[in-house]
Amino acid sequence: MIPPYTVASILEASRIEEVVSDFVNLKRRGSNLIGLCPFHQEKTPSFTVSPSKGIFKCFGCGKAGDSARFIMEHEHYSYPEALRYLAAKYQIEIEEREQSPEELQEQNERERLFNLNSFARDYFSNSLFETQEGKAIGLGYLKERDFRETVVRKFQLGFNPDHKDAFSNHARNQGYSAEALLKTGLSVGSEDKLYDRFQGRVIFPIHNLTGKVIGFGGRILVSDKTKAKYLNSPESDIYNKSKSLYGLYFAKTAISRLDQCLLVEGYTDVISMHQAGIENVVASSGTSLTTEQIRLIRRYTNNITILYDGDKAGVNASLRGIDMILEEGMNVRVLLFPEGDDPDSFVRKHRSSEVEEFIRKESKDFISFKTGLLLEEAAGDPIRKAGLIREIVTTISLIPDPIYRTVYVKECSRMLEVAEATLMNELNKLLRSRFRKQLSPETPVLPQSQPDLQPQEVAPEQEIPTLHQERELIRLMLMFGNHEVMVPTVDEDGFPAIYRLPLAHYILDDLRNDQLTFMHPTNVKILEIYIEGHDEGVVPHEQHFVSNPEPDVALLCIDLITERYQLSQNWEKHKIFVKTATDDLKLLADSALIHFKRKMVDSSMADLFQQLKEAVDPNDQLIIQKKIKGLKVIDMKLSQKPGIVISK
Ligand code: CTP
Ligand code: MN
Repeated sequence: MIPPYTVASILEASRIEEVVSDFVNLKRRGSNLIGLCPFHQEKTPSFTVSPSKGIFKCFGCGKAGDSARFIMEHEHYSYPEALRYLAAKYQIEIEEREQSPEELQEQNERERLFNLNSFARDYFSNSLFETQEGKAIGLGYLKERDFRETVVRKFQLGFNPDHKDAFSNHARNQGYSAEALLKTGLSVGSEDKLYDRFQGRVIFPIHNLTGKVIGFGGRILVSDKTKAKYLNSPESDIYNKSKSLYGLYFAKTAISRLDQCLLVEGYTDVISMHQAGIENVVASSGTSLTTEQIRLIRRYTNNITILYDGDKAGVNASLRGIDMILEEGMNVRVLLFPEGDDPDSFVRKHRSSEVEEFIRKESKDFISFKTGLLLEEAAGDPIRKAGLIREIVTTISLIPDPIYRTVYVKECSRMLEVAEATLMNELNKLLRSRFRKQLSPETPVLPQSQPDLQPQEVAPEQEIPTLHQERELIRLMLMFGNHEVMVPTVDEDGFPAIYRLPLAHYILDDLRNDQLTFMHPTNVKILEIYIEGHDEGVVPHEQHFVSNPEPDVALLCIDLITERYQLSQNWEKHKIFVKTATDDLKLLADSALIHFKRKMVDSSMADLFQQLKEAVDPNDQLIIQKKIKGLKVIDMKLSQKPGIVISK
């Protein structure tokens, strides 16, 4: 039990922005801070922290609360666990009695496993630094590998002597249950007879994001082909291998500060790099890289550099990693170490500054990496070259953001000396077939040329005067909806300020302002999906449309986004490049909005006047007059705009 007055002082001391920023990269926006929500997948930040109110709120998924609630949600803690976490962070003492063996039993299951792991960590650390055997063998081994004491202590490394059951027995004597020892995997065997999992091994504790020990890796000290070099804890209620990254607890601040994460293969790579002062390093030890691990990194940065061994296994793991990272919409570079070296051995042979320079100079963006690799393989063989082009385009097709896809097609065209249009064609084919495969099962997948493709109830397209203008707006939202545009405004105090918002929201706000909607029923459906997203503070992803259960929505969207080569020429005309895209995107949107409104006003005005003539009911007349008035307002605004006119 934590006494109520202690609870109050814990909550008082907790500053929400500090609590949250241990997990989420926050940027200041006005008096609030914003970042990517850790509770749901998003690309545009809708997660807001208000220091003055002491709360967080996500406008995307709706999660909200104070510091304790945040920790409960994020770490899956109970309320007392969250309070204890905050108390530790703010150095507030909780007066709790030593626990009796019975109380130990009663403790919440997860907390018991955490406690046991932290007990084990201390035991192994004590063995390493305080026992004869540990000092001679364990510490001797680590010294041999040039690990300095500071880094050994920082990573809480330890040693378990070469005994069958010394640790297990000690833990049992201290009141830890056999069940917990087996669950954490610290012991093997049965409840009646426990043996130590890690016998005669150097111990690497594995931490979660808050620094609690969730598992261990144990390295053998001698070269013995009959035994595994590393043994790792099994998965448990507190250790999910595919969702944890070795070193992230120690690296997260540096990753966020440098906006860059280095991904290595092993425990020792992480530690050696740290020792050399390079701290933004994590390893996916014990498993091959998973999407969940990549998403974990994405909380802190969008940029990953893969640093793997240069052997065949390293190359293959890199290729797999590249595709997975790109699929998550992140940027990836690759650096393979010279044959026979890994980051750990390389770092020991070079000075820190040399290592940093090596990484900077030798790492390649994924397209150069893959092209170089494949060109070497296919040298002088045109058929193999065609195959490799397809392979690279396949990788490009995994990138969710159309702008980046186009940039990489350009790059690829330059490097492989293949026409851009050819690559774009190939890319569009791939995208179309993938999107069509993803259509929901009840969606009839028909070839595009089929005349009965359009559902019956849809009005003939030629009767919709604004059809093309509507589609242009939808295409902009599909392709760039997530990209931020900057809108000049004035702040509360009347000073000029810049307001940033996603392009899709910019377009929707503008349409809403003039109370306009689309005319074509399919376009209306799409617009409504966007509006729904807007109200929740998110921009629906491309995927949301291409696998929409409504066939007309899905098919139209697939067509719009795979027709983008034409548009890419358009960007060229408007001098759009990725770096400066935001300014130009706003211009594109403004121009598309003007076109749409012009067409809408012109065609509806004539129509409404005709209706007015024919209307007999005064109520109808009133409604029509109101509509005409609305259009006139838009018309006036349009004529005041400096003409941004693009030819159609
Ligand atoms: N690994 C494992 N089990 C093994 C071998 C390796 O779990 N039997 C994991 C470990 O996390 C290890 C990583 O894979 O850190 C990379 O393996 P490897 O390159 O063989 O080891 P190093 O990290 O280079 O370790 P060392 O330098 O101690 O040889
Ligand atoms: Mn190594």
